[in-house]
Amino acid sequence: MSKIKNIDALEVLDSRGSPTIEVILTTDDNITVKALVPSGASTGIHEALELRDNDPKRYFEKGVLNAVSNVKNEIFPILKNKNVLDQEELDYLMIKKDGTDNKSNFGANAILGVSLCIARAAAISKKMPLYKYLSKNDSFILPCPMMNIINGGAHSDSPLDFQEFMIRPKGANNFKEALRYGAEVFHSLKKLLKKEGFSTSVGDEGGFAPNFKSDEDALDYIMQSIKDAGYKPNEDITIALDCAASEFFDENSHKYIEKKKKLKNLKYLEKTPLEQIKHLEKLSQEYPIDSIEDGLSETDWDGWIELTKQLGNKLQLVGDDLLVTNTKFLKQAIEKKACNAILIKLNQIGTLTETISAINLAKEHGFNTVISHRSAETEDTFIADLCVATNSGQIKTGSLSRSERICKYNRLLEIEYELKDKATFFKGL
Ligand code: PGA
Ligand code: ZN
Repeated sequence: MSKIKNIDALEVLDSRGSPTIEVILTTDDNITVKALVPSGASTGIHEALELRDNDPKRYFEKGVLNAVSNVKNEIFPILKNKNVLDQEELDYLMIKKDGTDNKSNFGANAILGVSLCIARAAAISKKMPLYKYLSKNDSFILPCPMMNIINGGAHSDSPLDFQEFMIRPKGANNFKEALRYGAEVFHSLKKLLKKEGFSTSVGDEGGFAPNFKSDEDALDYIMQSIKDAGYKPNEDITIALDCAASEFFDENSHKYIEKKKKLKNLKYLEKTPLEQIKHLEKLSQEYPIDSIEDGLSETDWDGWIELTKQLGNKLQLVGDDLLVTNTKFLKQAIEKKACNAILIKLNQIGTLTETISAINLAKEHGFNTVISHRSAETEDTFIADLCVATNSGQIKTGSLSRSERICKYNRLLEIEYELKDKATFFKGL
């Protein structure tokens, strides 16, 4: 049995150069583990609270010294000498002592860092790789990666409001090949953009952020680069979108507004929810799109119900901001038939136990699950193991550049290599 001997924390930086928390946990039998916590830009309104210092003298108010202090002075005393194998009990102990609905007392960043360390220490204590320790069975599915090769929305300066244009190599035979398909398309796209005089600088998630005029422009370039890399669109590689539509929904007029174009004084469109659904339908008819995340705003539940009614049998409709990895909202979505898949982000809810509950509830009701990074990431690869452990089948962890993205893909390559024929590749939607 490994008991918690110490929990320490420090302020480090994430991939956007802003502070985040690193937690270091040691046990009485000399296990030392660490976990780093990511951070979002287009965050959902109901996400658990990421505690920031709001001190204007440090990091433009983004310091996390209060969260660091909470780990050392509030959380450690309640977990001292506890058994790291009791994940659920320890997570609920933190939730109870925090005492708020959104973890705003200790901060979800502080709580999550500890929660992930507990799991890592337990896996080492059991002498198991993390994915095996977290798994309930002995067969494993390696995910189909959803690789975000064009970054718009809150993640880049591109005029596009849709946040993510992703490729899904569903025709690959295994993860290794899927990743190769993705990297080859990424390099083809770079070549094409260069040839056409576009910028090849990248956004927060490592995808390109050129000055495209429309969603169709972005999709046309992706189609061409799939072909240039020698693949067949649809058969080998499909396309997935994350519109992150909460970011450009106007609550007053109840319209979806091309906000970034408006800000740049360019010609822009406004769409009612029904027009937005029509736009998504048209795009999915013209391009091999099989998954759309946050096609509508987190506040537009009626729109989501209509969207699912119209397109739910043809497309994977993923709730991210809508569901915030929270079983409370997931239950509503199941009841109301408001989408058919859930995006899973550990820091939206703040503990591993609650994250796994959301995954299990989704699966029980036939919802697909997509494990996800955040737009500000770190070198922590926990989500790669979580994805394999839960047989989620899908992961989105950015483009084919920037090591805070690639480290998760590399971890999946290691897991696949280790599992050999015990692993199967996700068979598609
Ligand atoms: P975020 O973006 O981490 O900035 O919220 C990721 C997403 O919306 O899926
Ligand atoms: Zn999203």
